[in-house]
Amino acid sequence: MKAAILTASDRGARGEREDASGRVLRELLSAVGAEIVDYRIVPDELDLVAGALVAMADGGVDLICTTGGTGLGPRDVTPDATLQVIQRRVPGIPEAIRAASLPKTQRAMLSRAEAGVRGKTLIVNLPGSPNAVRECLEVVLPVLSHAVEVLRGGQLDCARDREAPA
Ligand code: MTE
Repeated sequence: MKAAILTASDRGARGEREDASGRVLRELLSAVGAEIVDYRIVPDELDLVAGALVAMADGGVDLICTTGGTGLGPRDVTPDATLQVIQRRVPGIPEAIRAASLPKTQRAMLSRAEAGVRGKTLIVNLPGSPNAVRECLEVVLPVLSHAVEVLRGGQLDCARDREAPA
């Protein structure tokens, strides 16, 4: 699986803060065998986040994980940029993430994270803190390879595969 990481952070983009969340994403995705082929930090600007998503997706990656900018702050625009560039939403992903996160922190309900598909690329928004990235990505990791496989047009019979004896 070819993956890309996009960090949306004003301070990170100015070089004022180390991108610890991007590093966590790189570690976790690499650990499940993903090849990180693109990594960018952009300020929390709608056009810049959307532009980076388009460039990454149209560059042919299977997966883009974003971190940051999903909350209610005036500069938080990552979900809005994501909605601009995807063709299909995948609401089950943020639903599952929020459901799993709520017992850990009630503030999980404040993340407006989205997930969706542009072409053959799955885009998943994750919150900005390293801990949140870890907690949220853990929820999605078990289904990622299957999602990418289906997006590529392979493995069309999901249900039969799931019901087959191990
Ligand atoms: N989800 C999990 N699992 N763990 C967290 O620590 N932080 C929450 C929420 N989701 C959090 C979480 C908080 S405090 C906020 S404000 C929102 O994500 C949005 O975070 P962001 O603006 O950094 O994207």
